[in-house]
Amino acid sequence: MTQPLREARVDLSAIRDNVAVLRAATAPAALLAVVKAGGYGHGAVAVAHAAVEGGADWLGVVDTDEALALRTGGVTVPLLAWLHGTETDFAPAIAAGIDLGVSSLAQLDRVAGASTTASAPVFVHLKVDTGLGRNGIEESDCAAVFARAAEHERAGRLRVRGMFTHLSNTGPEEDAAQVARFTRQTEAAAAAGLTIELRHLAATAAALRLPGALFDMVRVGLGIYGLSPFEGETSAALGLRPAMELSAEVISVKRVPAGTGVSYGYLHRTSGESTLALVPLGYADGIPRHASSRGPVQINGRTYTVAGRIAMDQFVVDVGDDPVSVGDRAILFGDPSTGVPSADDWATAAETINYEIVTRLGPRVTRTYLP
Ligand SMILES: Cc1ncc(COP(=O)(O)O)c(C=O)c1O
Repeated sequence: MTQPLREARVDLSAIRDNVAVLRAATAPAALLAVVKAGGYGHGAVAVAHAAVEGGADWLGVVDTDEALALRTGGVTVPLLAWLHGTETDFAPAIAAGIDLGVSSLAQLDRVAGASTTASAPVFVHLKVDTGLGRNGIEESDCAAVFARAAEHERAGRLRVRGMFTHLSNTGPEEDAAQVARFTRQTEAAAAAGLTIELRHLAATAAALRLPGALFDMVRVGLGIYGLSPFEGETSAALGLRPAMELSAEVISVKRVPAGTGVSYGYLHRTSGESTLALVPLGYADGIPRHASSRGPVQINGRTYTVAGRIAMDQFVVDVGDDPVSVGDRAILFGDPSTGVPSADDWATAAETINYEIVTRLGPRVTRTYLP
């Protein structure tokens, strides 16, 4: 089979292994693998199946459309979707057995309302804001929401299966304050008559570093893709393997004289006679323009830096006198233990985080899968 022009090759065995590593580190907590945003750019359905094979008990996404797409893709394990619009129709998700994260009293009532016509039981996880300042029930609203949830339970409209929150990752003190607030809120929920089976707070960073905060389940995203949430700490140091390798074919090579300006604005000029290799990936594909003149690219085992501006569809690599031919492969990132640049290297070059590097890849990049 010929290799696609632009390829994000995802090694599903890495996903399975990473889930197993994270599971071993967090047992006996259950593990929810986060596959929102197209499985962080890796392809949600393929990652979902691999994560389940690796031992994930639950899968998590943001909205109900993402969850329904997983069901269409043959995913049968429990699913949680936690961010909804004011017009979201919950009925299809309820019919598909998808648990709903609920972040406000109004949302709770809307979900309870949807239960009147639902053909399946309605399960919710109350999301409490313990200090991230995003969605989630404010501490001051918790008592009212818990009381209403208990009322809906008694009326048979829904069942509160879980309660969750998300950390700000600001520092140990802030983490400890959020964990304490969460513990307090789970106790308040119990006092209000709710029997909560799944309390969950930890994403990858806390799953690996806050053993006292694992509760009944962890929600791990980045780690299952083999990437590290800790600055300056590699995947390998955490026992994880990056699953994605991004590459493209070199589609043009030309020999140019010294002083040749390269790409928009001539941020790069050749210092001597040189060979320019053209790579058909640009910011339309998610390659950050901000990494112009900085992003690393490996061709034939040698690592270069992008020459000049990354354009919408392409960028140039100045390979000097090295023998590079049309049809050679340019690797942007993959598993650095194999000698190629990493998603972290690109994150540094673009002054962003590895999450964004993989998640932003566009639809022109063909996802392929190694079993
Ligand atoms: C609510 C929630 N839980 C868990 C995660 C997973 O986080 P991570 O990828 O750091 O494991 C996310 C991702 O942003 C999230 O929004």
